Amino acid sequence: MKNLILVGYMGSGKTAVSRILKERLNMELLDSDSLIEERVSMKISDIFNKQGENEFRRMETCLLEDLQDKSEAFILSTGGGMPLIEENRCLMKMLGTVIYLRAKPETIYARIKNDNTRPLLQTPDKMKKIEEMLERRKSFYEAVARHVIDTDGKDLEQVADEILELISEL
Ligand code: S3P
Repeated sequence: MKNLILVGYMGSGKTAVSRILKERLNMELLDSDSLIEERVSMKISDIFNKQGENEFRRMETCLLEDLQDKSEAFILSTGGGMPLIEENRCLMKMLGTVIYLRAKPETIYARIKNDNTRPLLQTPDKMKKIEEMLERRKSFYEAVARHVIDTDGKDLEQVADEILELISEL
């Protein structure tokens, strides 16, 4: 089994779906945000506040480089901005099968409206911010992904089932 990499906007269900996939496929699960937090012993929000977004993106690139050497297959749940950098898109494609969990702004808003852990969404008009960022980002998600799964109106199990079906055909 090749590595599986889930990408998508914040709140698209990457973390939750990858947990289901881990159980079903009995594969190791890696979460890029958690790995970075461990590496630097800082919360994502502190990295953004103290070192800035560019430095965080650099850490994401370093992590992807290091993962290239890993021999056992894994599922990687990525931070929503990882595919914005061309080098990251390249590294992700080299790592394995990239799947984009696509969601409409309304779906995302419903999921993350009360979240206060994501530095990029700490703004009064969250819906507007989500719409703008998604518009800017969607081409990057599509460019890196081998498969796109629409998640609107589906529960997490359904999304995981679709992924399992897709990879069984590979
Ligand atoms: C980010 C998404 C977050 C985290 C950071 C930046 C982004 O991960 O990496 O807050 O730029 O979309 P999640 O997608 O897991 O929330």
